[in-house]
Amino acid sequence: MTEKMSTHQAEEDARNEDICIYVDGRIVPKAQATVSVYDSGFMLGDGVWEGLRLYNGTWAFLNEHMDRLFEAAKAIDLDIGLDREGVIAALRETQAANDMQTDAHARLMVTRGVKMRPFQHPSLSKSGPTMVIIMEHSRPRLPRPIQLATVPHLRGLPMTQDPKLNSHSKLNCILACIAAEKAGADEALMLDVNGFVNTTNACNFFIVRKGEVWTSTGDYCMNGITRQKVIDLCRANDIPIREHNYSLVDTYGADEAFLTGTFGAQTPVGSIDGRRIGSGDLGPMTERIRALYKGLIEKECA
Ligand SMILES: Cc1ncc(COP(=O)(O)O)c(C=O)c1O
Repeated sequence: MTEKMSTHQAEEDARNEDICIYVDGRIVPKAQATVSVYDSGFMLGDGVWEGLRLYNGTWAFLNEHMDRLFEAAKAIDLDIGLDREGVIAALRETQAANDMQTDAHARLMVTRGVKMRPFQHPSLSKSGPTMVIIMEHSRPRLPRPIQLATVPHLRGLPMTQDPKLNSHSKLNCILACIAAEKAGADEALMLDVNGFVNTTNACNFFIVRKGEVWTSTGDYCMNGITRQKVIDLCRANDIPIREHNYSLVDTYGADEAFLTGTFGAQTPVGSIDGRRIGSGDLGPMTERIRALYKGLIEKECA
């Protein structure tokens, strides 16, 4: 049996036991960082979040992350209680408290706050929002390419919990991931409502065929910031890139496949449903795109 792993696997780092966490304007040691059992996020998954990375003292693509956070909050009618500068200040405060400069990852979460009673109605959340920022030392470390399995859980239509929302409730994605694990894979490859290949439960998905890079139309998947950067890099470097519908037949027959996300940048895919993809290892196009992305990060976070 192959070793179990996930796309968000990082090197063990003992320093993460001693981190400080931002909870509603206060910076507290990890052991004291708690929220109420009445919190809307805990009780109902009612909130939104962002995952950000720090390189050389700079938060990569901070504007894009703030745009997406505020757009998501607006979509769920959640007042974050801080403006953009306020959220950025909280992020920097967390960074300073932890004295982190590079290879750090933040999960910034905002929920509808503490409820008066344990029921669903959003008007029961009267405390104002809860905001938490967890920052950890984080160097992605994958011992081998990712193995995917397709699952029965679909990327839904936008009118039923739009899959573009980075909502606290990730149950559909979690069920997909569980199904993939039970099938012996690391992560789930999810199809859209029309049966086209869409995305994985936690990352965006690309294939490479005959020198062209393909990804889904962008409907039904998270509007990943890394996804967009990869598309832009392909365009800027004369790498043919297509955002279109394609099937599992095209996918199994691909020369390469890779995932994108803030945490892992570009992660090679070794197999899907037991079919080896290309050589089963990091392919030349994925390697090239990785290098281009690394260059972009170096420029952004000089
Ligand atoms: C379902 C899903 N897809 C893709 C991504 C990757 O998005 P990004 O590149 O902005 O990190 C995420 C990350 O939040 C996600 O939750």
